[in-house]
Amino acid sequence: MKARILELLKQNKELFLSGEDISRQIGITRAAVWKYIKQLQSEGYLIKSVSNNGYKLVNCPDILTYEEICENLKTDIIGHKIIHFDSIDSTNNKAKELAEKGEPEGTVIISEAQTSGKGRVGRQWYSQAYQGICLSVILRPNIDLLSVPLITQIACAAICKATIKITDGVQIKWPNDLLLGGRKFCGILTESSGEIDKVNYIIVGIGINVNQEKNDFPESLEKKATSLKIETTNYISRKNFVCDIFYELEKMYMEYKENGIMDDVIDYCRKFSSVIGKQIKVERNGTGSRAKAVDINNRGELLVEFENGNTESISTGNISIM
Ligand code: BTN
Repeated sequence: MKARILELLKQNKELFLSGEDISRQIGITRAAVWKYIKQLQSEGYLIKSVSNNGYKLVNCPDILTYEEICENLKTDIIGHKIIHFDSIDSTNNKAKELAEKGEPEGTVIISEAQTSGKGRVGRQWYSQAYQGICLSVILRPNIDLLSVPLITQIACAAICKATIKITDGVQIKWPNDLLLGGRKFCGILTESSGEIDKVNYIIVGIGINVNQEKNDFPESLEKKATSLKIETTNYISRKNFVCDIFYELEKMYMEYKENGIMDDVIDYCRKFSSVIGKQIKVERNGTGSRAKAVDINNRGELLVEFENGNTESISTGNISIM
């Protein structure tokens, strides 16, 4: 009902709609209309209410609900079902729970805040409520478990492409981070379930710092983290940015899923890499080895040359630039 009232108000933007009109068109009482209008106002919708005139929608909030995103959605699958929370422990946890119950490909879980946001290797993901983007996309490609890291590269390339439309200077820090001015503004946590030769589902968890100010980050992150707003000094519309990410993600993902083509993805991962050509430390099994990052191959793996001259392609892992 609330969504229906919002739809009516949006269709008549800039006009007053009487409570009676709304109640007749939707088939609810005027008291119920008033209750839903109050709810919408509490969610941040600016609705002018004038006695004898009715209600007029003046402004919509930058929240990541389906109702706010659908206007700019240009995808066929990703984002056509959005399950939105004001706060949740982790969108990845919720997405896994729903994927286990059969939730189809393309459903997105979005939360304005997370109480236990997860990063890779047991790290935490911290995000100020309503300032960033915290979402998880459910995918069901017909691939084996060894190919899952490719999906992270697809997400990196897609977010990179969407971010370039906002600002220069974006870099991809293989395998799952995006940087601006050398600091992290986006992290991706890909989780999957299935058999070795057939994935059942993949959850692509995306965390992006969008409108945070410097003092929104805890002290421990001050030197490592940044946001799009800090780097550009502009407020960024999260709902527009999310739509663009879905668009770029779906294009690259479908090209891989349907045709096995990754050319565009690998081009982005190479061109915008912050690690290729650099001395790095590869951390594995509790030890770190010095190496040079040489290239990213067609499977999205990082080619490294260790100090003893051995070369290896690594598909996932923890690296740091020295
Ligand atoms: C990393 O930097 O290691 C990855 C961070 C991924 C954070 C996102 S926020 C949405 C989704 N839900 C989570 O709990 N984590 C991911």
